[in-house]
Amino acid sequence: MKRIGLLTSGGDAPGMNAAIRAVVRSGIYFGMEVFGIERGYAGLIEDNVVKMEMRSVSNIVQRGGTCLRTARCLEMKTKEGQEKALATLQRHGIEGLVVIGGDGSFRGAKVLSEYGVPTIGIPGTIDNDLAYTDYTLGFDTAVNTCLDVINKLRDTMTSHERVCVVEVMGRHCGDIALYSGIASGAEIIVVPEVEFDIADIEAKIRRSRANGKHSNIVVIAEGVMSAEKFADKLQAVTEYSVRPTCIGHVQRGGSPSMADRMLAAQFGNKAVRLLNEGIGNRAVGIRENKIIDMDIIEAVSMQKTFNHELYETLQMISM
Ligand code: ADP
Ligand code: F6P
Repeated sequence: MKRIGLLTSGGDAPGMNAAIRAVVRSGIYFGMEVFGIERGYAGLIEDNVVKMEMRSVSNIVQRGGTCLRTARCLEMKTKEGQEKALATLQRHGIEGLVVIGGDGSFRGAKVLSEYGVPTIGIPGTIDNDLAYTDYTLGFDTAVNTCLDVINKLRDTMTSHERVCVVEVMGRHCGDIALYSGIASGAEIIVVPEVEFDIADIEAKIRRSRANGKHSNIVVIAEGVMSAEKFADKLQAVTEYSVRPTCIGHVQRGGSPSMADRMLAAQFGNKAVRLLNEGIGNRAVGIRENKIIDMDIIEAVSMQKTFNHELYETLQMISM
């Protein structure tokens, strides 16, 4: 394989730039020409293709966002759009492709593989919602950003003896809430995977105050409801003063953590090694601290399971 392409798609995630760097440098190492496709599948359809050189990816390992930019592109879901995307690859003689994104982006990658362009998926999303890999690129940094915000909220909530409801991202997957809740010492997490009972939550807050606590943090995943709405519900049943905070897109930006940079280096390198062997239609990931690859469709079909043991751990240690 002499020419490969690379794009980022869907919601961006810290570490995407580090993965772009790893793909470009690994491709050049194997004697390939590497082409960056700007704006995800939209740029592939519209032929926004740029040649990437060794120095195109200098000084980006530490930056959040994606230098190739990203997009959500409905046209890629249509046959017409897919054929335009294929035509762009053929026009540039691109024989293999790396797609960095979430499960939606992987479905687009699978389509291109079926058209005969070996395509490799790198899991890039803060949500950690892909079942086949223990971690997705960007999750660790996003959780660390949430921790930074929650630490600050704890200060002011304690001074005023308040309860803070903190909304983090995650429409269907509660991992950001689960990990940032445990690591910040939040008393309560509310996630889409577990039903909540407002009376139980109120009782837990009351018990913690009786035990000498001066503040409480409730971390809620956006998929359940907004912080504001939940704060209203809670305020209706508790005597303590409740304040909502939505962390929002702050958690999608920022310099990637060591963990995300290490994942990016390994995922990017593995993707190019596979293409160099002529292998496509695979998704790379990490399981039990080992870099793995598997069939991309099998990867997106796997059902993510919520870690109930971690959820119970929070119930036992944070009170
Ligand atoms: P993510 O990759 O983060 O899950 P999306 O679900 O928004 O984000 O998907 C990103 C893009 O992937 C979509 O905007 C679309 O261009 C492409 N895509 C999603 N689903 C499909 C599909 N079934 N077939 C082809 N392309 C798809
Ligand atoms: O998939 C990543 C994600 O950040 C989700 O956690 C969130 O629900 C969504 O993207 C936000 O998307 P948008 O970029 O459209 O605001």
